[in-house]
Amino acid sequence: MILKVAQVGHPVLRQRSREVTPEELASGAVQQFMDDLLETMDEYDGVGLAAPQVHVPLRIVALQITGERGPEFLVNPRITVLADTTRKTWEGCLSVEGFRGLVIRPDHVRIEALDRDGSEKVLEIKGHGAVVVQHECDHLDGVLYIDRAEPRSLVTTQNFRRYGPPEEYADEEADVDDEGMDDLDEDELDELDEDALEEVG
Ligand code: NI
Repeated sequence: MILKVAQVGHPVLRQRSREVTPEELASGAVQQFMDDLLETMDEYDGVGLAAPQVHVPLRIVALQITGERGPEFLVNPRITVLADTTRKTWEGCLSVEGFRGLVIRPDHVRIEALDRDGSEKVLEIKGHGAVVVQHECDHLDGVLYIDRAEPRSLVTTQNFRRYGPPEEYADEEADVDDEGMDDLDEDELDELDEDALEEVG
């Protein structure tokens, strides 16, 4: 079932979502919800979607980190920054429809999370995938990319296409993503480096 995506201003996007218990994770209701979350992500050509974005305040994220690796889930994820290098991205978000802003984030992180079957996994991710994961996990804490965006960088997607980045950011080397880590096209996905992701356990 395709779910309705909450837009900025809805309180569900600003609260801290709660942890999922092992019993809940194993339940038919939560497993069905995860299928719906994935279906909704696909419907909007997303590479990531967090549960609160569809009005469910649980710590669950669906995401596609690389083109080769299938979509997966992070349940109760914990992020550790592994390097002080950063990456600039013109981020967008399905919950802030029609806008982009320039965000600077760490570009190498470790994620510890449960998979949908309850097993633990640890991933170390570099580059664009690291940005996607941080953007999605921020949603679980009620944080939107616009909270982190450079001042005066917010633009509509339409004007971004028409005029490019605002003048003071025109010289920045940055990735460009439509609608939030939510809308990379397949060619861009293929360019993401599989080596950038290391499955630690
Ligand atoms: Ni988002």
